[in-house]
Amino acid sequence: MPAVVLVGAQWGDEGKGKATDLLGSRLDYVVKFNGGNNAGHTVVVGEEKYALHLLPSGILTPGVTPVIANGVVVDIEVLFEELEGLASRGVDVSKLRISANAHVITQYHRTLDKVTERFLGKRQIGTTGRGIGPSYADKINRVGIRMQDLFDENILRQKVEGALDQKNHLLVKVYNRRAIAVDEIVDELLGYVDRLRPMVTDTALELHQALGRGETVLFEGGQATMLDVDHGTYPFVTSSNATSGGAVTGSGIAPNQIDRVIAVVKAYTTRVGAGPFPTELFDEWGDFLTENGHEFGTTTGRRRRTGWYDAPIARYAARINGVTDFVLTKLDVLTGIERIPVCVAYDVDGERFDEVPVSQSDFHHAKPIYEEFPGWTEDLSGAREFADLPANAQAYVRELEAMSGSRISAIGVGPERDAIVQLHELID
Ligand code: GDP
Ligand code: IMO
Ligand code: MG
Repeated sequence: MPAVVLVGAQWGDEGKGKATDLLGSRLDYVVKFNGGNNAGHTVVVGEEKYALHLLPSGILTPGVTPVIANGVVVDIEVLFEELEGLASRGVDVSKLRISANAHVITQYHRTLDKVTERFLGKRQIGTTGRGIGPSYADKINRVGIRMQDLFDENILRQKVEGALDQKNHLLVKVYNRRAIAVDEIVDELLGYVDRLRPMVTDTALELHQALGRGETVLFEGGQATMLDVDHGTYPFVTSSNATSGGAVTGSGIAPNQIDRVIAVVKAYTTRVGAGPFPTELFDEWGDFLTENGHEFGTTTGRRRRTGWYDAPIARYAARINGVTDFVLTKLDVLTGIERIPVCVAYDVDGERFDEVPVSQSDFHHAKPIYEEFPGWTEDLSGAREFADLPANAQAYVRELEAMSGSRISAIGVGPERDAIVQLHELID
């Protein structure tokens, strides 16, 4: 029963989309289990570049069945835009399955996301503004709308009324915005029903059956470990479980069905939005990483914050997710740096921390303790075997591996599909 979970180890944008695409031909199903269209995955196939947000990256591989599972929040307008965009480029999107239990992002969630951020002022999270947080809040508050509600007009209307009852007071009296009419939301959602009907199903059952037949299922996490609502840098996180446990609750498979947990980790670190980031660079090396790594958001276009590799974070990700394999990406971006610093521990007001401190205040004050490793000047993009890498690049990879709590099984050396050095099979 090959069930493989793939997650981000840092603050997102590690190259999960490319890693999923790499495994594509070995997969029968690719399942998105958390988040929504806050994600942005870039996949380069030959001359073509695809940006995926709501759909799992596996949709680009012919024959794979993509699944949007119960843990996802779905903006249906975005869903159809993305499907149409891919279909017009010749991608077969006809196999998509969507969980009847997935929650829906509506106009009021998007509006609330934006106004609450504005009201937070200096304390704002820097969300993607896609309505993710408010939609998950409704789910937990038990006033959310699920995909299945769309197929019963009566229930849908009651639920939208229930949700708007309180929100309209908030929108009008607190945030000074216009009230949203129940009909406006209900009519929009009902307009999608005919197109959704063939896709919406019991995806948990379908995945159990697929695993029972011995098919290979990849669970593709959106966001990443340090953005996880429980294990990340709260409150500067997203509103879902982006770690491997989320693959279980977010899809309805059982923990003992998971065989492999792959974490994608960049050879340096980036972050979009606010929150602590110990190895962040504010000097020309930060610009070097941003420019060489093309570190601009796939979803919002924002410039990503950049910094050196943080080994305590990789170890943290290894622990929280039960990582069996790391995919180390963007090693090529480090070419040309004479000595490459790696954070091996933190100094918090004079005290050494070898692991990520549990206290948010400590993490905010954490200063990286660096070790430096010799760099290389050779272009790595043509390397396909470990032996093709310059000796110093090999040594850098081995050092990271020793510090990061699990083996490195593949190394990214460029954005293209085949720009990869494979050390171990990622799927048995
Ligand atoms: P995701 O959100 O984790 O899927 O990552 P993103 O797609 O947001 O960001 C990763 C970016 O790095 C994309 O533009 C990829 O095309 C690119 N990329 C992925 N792997 C590599 C690599 O090994 N080297 C280089 N230079 N670029 C890579
Ligand atoms: P992928 O899947 C990087 C960040 C936002 C913000 C915080 C909360 O491409 O790695 P949200 O809109 O989710 O409520 O925003 O999380 N964030 C991401 N950062 N990559 C992502 O996805 C992200 N999804 C959300 O920038 O700081
Ligand atoms: Mg991304």
